[in-house]
Amino acid sequence: MNFKGGHILSVNQFDREAIEQVFNVAHQMLPYAKRQKRTTVLDGAILGNLFFEPSTRTRVSFGTAFNLLGGEVRETTGLSNSALAKGESLYDTARVLSGYSDIIAMRHPDTGSVAEFAQGSRIPVINGGDGANEHPTQALLDLYTIQKELEHHGSGIDGMHIAMIGDLKYGRTVHSLSKLLCLFKNVRFTLISPKELSMPQGIIDVIENAGHQYKITEQFEGSLDADICYQTRIQEERFPSQQEANQYRGKFRLNQQIYTKHFQSKTVIMHPLPRDSRAEANELDNDLNLNPNLAIFRQTDNGVLVRMALFALTLGVENIVSQFDQKVCWHVNP
Ligand code: CP
Repeated sequence: MNFKGGHILSVNQFDREAIEQVFNVAHQMLPYAKRQKRTTVLDGAILGNLFFEPSTRTRVSFGTAFNLLGGEVRETTGLSNSALAKGESLYDTARVLSGYSDIIAMRHPDTGSVAEFAQGSRIPVINGGDGANEHPTQALLDLYTIQKELEHHGSGIDGMHIAMIGDLKYGRTVHSLSKLLCLFKNVRFTLISPKELSMPQGIIDVIENAGHQYKITEQFEGSLDADICYQTRIQEERFPSQQEANQYRGKFRLNQQIYTKHFQSKTVIMHPLPRDSRAEANELDNDLNLNPNLAIFRQTDNGVLVRMALFALTLGVENIVSQFDQKVCWHVNP
């Protein structure tokens, strides 16, 4: 895969070699993310960070990643604050905004919108989530986390068993992650969701065609030998009505008791976040916060590394980052 100058719109663009390339560069970004040193390799470069749908970690970690490489960030948040609300097309918006920056990260509520925007852009565009479709950078950071977590257990992604739980219909992170996992060998999928929120057939087809085993179920059953338990939130913003979403909130709660009953003591717990901590939902209980297998905040930290790597590769500076090293002279927490 040739990253330099290209868009990152879908996980379909990736093969195992490209994933390895991203992960190798991400690993090299650790001292910068930990503030052990800093780099100004992107001094003068501008990121257009366009978030037309709510976000905390994707938006801020894209911005942080770009700042950590020495670049500047310009943001637009919310559809109603942009000229899209006045009827401007995605194409026109892209033509304009690509004249103001060097690279764009974008989230939008509609499937295919980021790809449509990219057609009008003269600079690289990275998909930060398009509707219920894809979230490629989340999938890459999830996969990076899975690899790191399983390394601690002396295993790897080939041959692993993942349980995906919750809203598998509208949850774009499980769509993108499933596709990436299909590039590996002998992965087992246990897909736990209400029937109405099951994994789309298109993703099941990808799993089947890649020769992996999968099981579809509507409940936690017995003891699961999953290496990874990937919990998701009911994506209420994608339902036709709040009333319909409410039928499913709170259906698949994971707390310490349920975890102990159904999972191994070493099963890694992941969630793309945000978790819905309101009492009627609470799909990932706070009583798991001190469980050492809870990897959710390691995921968010890894997001910065992976997004730094994608910027470095896309802007063609991955091999010269350390040539622009500088000392950190402020207090840094260990
Ligand atoms: N995981 C994720 O996409 O989080 P945000 O919606 O906060 O960006």
